[in-house]
Amino acid sequence: MQKSISNPLPEQDRLSARIRRGSAKDIAAMRAVACNSNGASQWSAEIYERVFSSEAPPRLTWVVEPCAFGPGMQAGSAGVGLLGFLVALGSGAEWELENLAVVQPCRRRGLGRRLVRALVTQACKAGAESIFLEVRESNLAARVFYESAGFRTAGRRPEYYSDPPEDAIVYRRELFLAAPGNVVASPEMGTR
Ligand SMILES: CC(C)(COP(=O)(O)OP(=O)(O)OC[C@H]1O[C@@H](n2cnc3c(N)ncnc32)[C@H](O)[C@@H]1OP(=O)(O)O)[C@@H](O)C(=O)NCCC(=O)NCCS
Repeated sequence: MQKSISNPLPEQDRLSARIRRGSAKDIAAMRAVACNSNGASQWSAEIYERVFSSEAPPRLTWVVEPCAFGPGMQAGSAGVGLLGFLVALGSGAEWELENLAVVQPCRRRGLGRRLVRALVTQACKAGAESIFLEVRESNLAARVFYESAGFRTAGRRPEYYSDPPEDAIVYRRELFLAAPGNVVASPEMGTR
């Protein structure tokens, strides 16, 4: 059963959120977001430690947090709630979006869109040519989300997932580079 997670944004301030790069200080809060998000990869603390290890393959992390925190709280402090996060494996021509989640009460407010946009912008700057990801076939909300973000189906991995076993659908988004260092607008999602 999922743990309950309180909505850290006041009702009238739901869109007052900012994106920043994640750090190892965010691990507990990232795990809390994933734990309450069916469809997100449920990684162990060790996997999150590797995400931020300088010895592991290069990963990029963005987190989204409320702009205003309660008294005595600071952004990035242990235990301060995040609204969502994205982790990508980023090197070479092909990047991989490895994990993405937005807390349930803040979904459909453009936060996932903003996280993916941050990834696409960074990947384009770094000269990547495409971003791919795998998603459970039954995760229709995420599939619609990725399709609205310019990802297209690129294959199927039979029984890629366990517990429960399920095929993965591979999605890929091509990035449009006219010339080295020259990022051309691609079918990006809206600007909200
Ligand atoms: C997938 C997820 C990250 C999307 O985050 P989000 O912040 O709700 O997404 P956005 O608000 O940016 O949505 C952008 C667009 O995606 C589409 N979309 C998002 N969620 C959708 C849903 N449940 N049903 C249909 N379309 C959806 C819509 O086109 C939406 O635009 P609109 O709201 O203007 O119609 C979020 O649903 C989530 O955390 N799911 C659980 C974890 C998960 O499945 N992660 C993916 C692992 S591969």
